[in-house]
Amino acid sequence: MPGPDLQPIALRPADPADAEAVAAIWRDGWRDGHLGHVPGELVAVRTPESFAVRAGERVADTTVAVVDGAVAGFVMVVGDEVEQLYVSAAHRGAGVAGALLAYAERLGREQGHGRVWLAVVTGNARARRFYEREDWVDEGAFDYPAEGPDGPISVPCHRYVKQVQGT
Ligand SMILES: CC(C)(COP(=O)(O)OP(=O)(O)OC[C@H]1O[C@@H](n2cnc3c(N)ncnc32)[C@H](O)[C@@H]1OP(=O)(O)O)[C@@H](O)C(=O)NCCC(=O)NCCS
Repeated sequence: MPGPDLQPIALRPADPADAEAVAAIWRDGWRDGHLGHVPGELVAVRTPESFAVRAGERVADTTVAVVDGAVAGFVMVVGDEVEQLYVSAAHRGAGVAGALLAYAERLGREQGHGRVWLAVVTGNARARRFYEREDWVDEGAFDYPAEGPDGPISVPCHRYVKQVQGT
C-alpha cells in the first residue's frame, strides 16, 4: 500500500495549454542533466525561448504526468526512440519518471517495435542510474546529433535500449 504522502500520478496526452509547464520543466531539467557535460555550443543555443518554442511545436509527441492537478513531468516518444523524459525537481524520486518510462515502453510495444532506445548524455549520472534501475541496457558510447538552429550538434552520449516485445 502506498503511504498517505504518495500522490496519485495520472498520465494523459499533452494539449497546447500544457506547453508552458512543459517548457519550464524541460528548461530547468535540461540544465540539471546537461550543464558541464555537453559542448558550450549546445548550451548557447538552449535558451529559455528555445524550450518554449520546442515545447509548443512538440505537443503532439508529448504525454504529461499530472500530480495534484499540476504537470510534474513529461515524455516525448518518436517511433522507437524515447526522445525526452523530464521530471520537475520537486517530483523527482517519487515514481513519476518510472510511470512515464513504463508508458513509453508500452507505446513502443503497441506500435510493434521489438525494442526501444534512447540517448543519454554520458555525464548525466542520475539519469543513467535511473535507466539502469529500470532494466535498460547500456549499449555504449556514441555521438548524438542534437537538434540546433544551424544543423545538428554532436553530443557525447550513451545509447540505452530495452526489449519490449515478448516480455
Ligand atoms: C532523469 C530523471 C527523469 C529521473 O527521474 P528521478 O525521479 O530523478 O529518478 P529516481 O530518483 O527515481 O532515480 C534516480 C537514481 O539516481 C540516483 N541519484 C540521485 N541523485 C543522483 C546524482 N546526483 N548522481 C547520481 N545518481 C543520483 C538515485 O538515488 C536513483 O538511484 P537508485 O534508485 O539506485 O537509488 C530526472 O532526474 C530528471 O528529470 N532529470 C533531469 C532531466 C534529465 O536528465 N532527463 C533525462 C534526459 S536523457
